[in-house]
Amino acid sequence: MEIRGKPLRPLIDPQSIQKRVHKLAGEILDAFGNTEELYVVGILKGAFIFTADLVRAMNIPVVVDFLQVSSYGQSMESSGKIRIMKDIEIDIAGKKVLLIDDILDTGLTISEIYRFLKSKGPSELKSCVFIEKEGRRKTDFEADFVGFKTLNYFLVGYGLDWGELGRNLPGIYAVEGS
Ligand code: IMP
Ligand code: MG
Repeated sequence: MEIRGKPLRPLIDPQSIQKRVHKLAGEILDAFGNTEELYVVGILKGAFIFTADLVRAMNIPVVVDFLQVSSYGQSMESSGKIRIMKDIEIDIAGKKVLLIDDILDTGLTISEIYRFLKSKGPSELKSCVFIEKEGRRKTDFEADFVGFKTLNYFLVGYGLDWGELGRNLPGIYAVEGS
């Protein structure tokens, strides 16, 4: 398989993803002290599939909303500056909130978003990323929950894109030569 002439190398298969996501959902609910209700905020667009799978593995009432920030488009590097394109519509003040993102790379994006959500006064705010890339952090941000750790490849699939392509692939692939 390839995207725009670049070969894709399979890294994580769909079955392993589903297994991990279900385990993760259990770990998250435990960490929130088996709360009766959870507010989930996914970051568009990358986290849309992960968010959908994760909330369906949670057997409690869940409120779901999404936040969109400006991305760095076709580029493979984070600019470190975010702009809120779409704010959440639900009130998370006093609520237990889980922030979900696709990838923790430099950490610049999610640390800014975490701060932004924190300012809305949730009683508890935890973060979860599907993939953490090792050795890439430019902030001291740590996610509370991590699905998988990978080396520094450029990844597509399961919501992740390369120039908007590849999000629909059910597994995770490394873009060859990245
Ligand atoms: P950060 O601010 O450098 O941590 O960038 C995080 C965001 O960059 C993620 O939410 C993704 O949208 C995007 N990103 C980082 N690495 C990759 C990748 O390997 N594939 C696709 N998107 C990526
Ligand atoms: Mg992206």
